[in-house]
Amino acid sequence: MATTSKRQKRKRGEPTPIELVNKKDDAQFIADHLRPSPDWNKWTHPKTQEAYSLSLVGAPRLSEADLETCLALVEETSRADYEPSSMGWKPGQKRAEMKSPELRYVLVRDGKGEGGIRGFTSLMPTYEEGQPVVYCYEIHLKPELQGTGLGRQLLGYHEQVARHTPTVGKVMLTCFLSNERALAFYRRLGFEKDEISPEPRKLRFGKVFVPDYVIMSKGVVNVVDADADADADAGADVAS
Ligand SMILES: CC(C)(COP(=O)(O)OP(=O)(O)OC[C@H]1O[C@@H](n2cnc3c(N)ncnc32)[C@H](O)[C@@H]1OP(=O)(O)O)[C@@H](O)C(=O)NCCC(=O)NCCS
Repeated sequence: MATTSKRQKRKRGEPTPIELVNKKDDAQFIADHLRPSPDWNKWTHPKTQEAYSLSLVGAPRLSEADLETCLALVEETSRADYEPSSMGWKPGQKRAEMKSPELRYVLVRDGKGEGGIRGFTSLMPTYEEGQPVVYCYEIHLKPELQGTGLGRQLLGYHEQVARHTPTVGKVMLTCFLSNERALAFYRRLGFEKDEISPEPRKLRFGKVFVPDYVIMSKGVVNVVDADADADADAGADVAS
């Protein structure tokens, strides 16, 4: 396991490693953290052979039209899960959350030039109950793209960012318990219920809180932390 003891300690008031990552522009974020293959922008539908394009853009640079298309896609695939839940379907709140400045979107457009968005995922390196994680905020595909392996590919980008972001040890996400299809997809990809996922508990006046969602996570081997430890070990060897 990587330890911070060998690495330089952060001084009081200095930005955290996660804050530094979130300040990067999109090109630098892609180069340092997504680290995709050279042809990652192209994706071909395995059944129709139609061409699609992939791109990454931070929420502050997402156009209003693209934001609305993404919100409409969330509504199309998931309103039925939100509506009966404790959260309800609140498009205004969802829009505000989707504009969080530190979110990055991987957009899937159909292949005709600046084609329409047919799927997307969004992610943010952040601290969740003190743990540095890459949080998957959304992953939604139009019906014609579901079951094609694209979901696996998109979630793979979250793992890739996690592996290449200092101190991060896992990818985390939230899923409604009613969304059995997505739960099966996440489990298939190695996600499990995280220790911070809420359990049913007794409230005042004899009421019981039963969560309608689960927090899931998947651990990753962090490449940058391993490299930093190896460098620190090499430095210690030279010094001794
Ligand atoms: C959830 C979603 C992103 C998954 O993407 P996808 O492209 O359909 O999934 P993939 O084809 O990449 O499947 C990846 C793996 O999961 C498995 N899988 C997918 N759905 C499954 C299911 N319902 N049951 C069991 N396994 C499933 C696939 O068999 C595949 O395994 P394999 O690669 O070993 O064969 C997509 O279906 C979607 O957009 N659904 C609607 C929106 C939604 O519910 N989002 C999640 C909100 S929490």
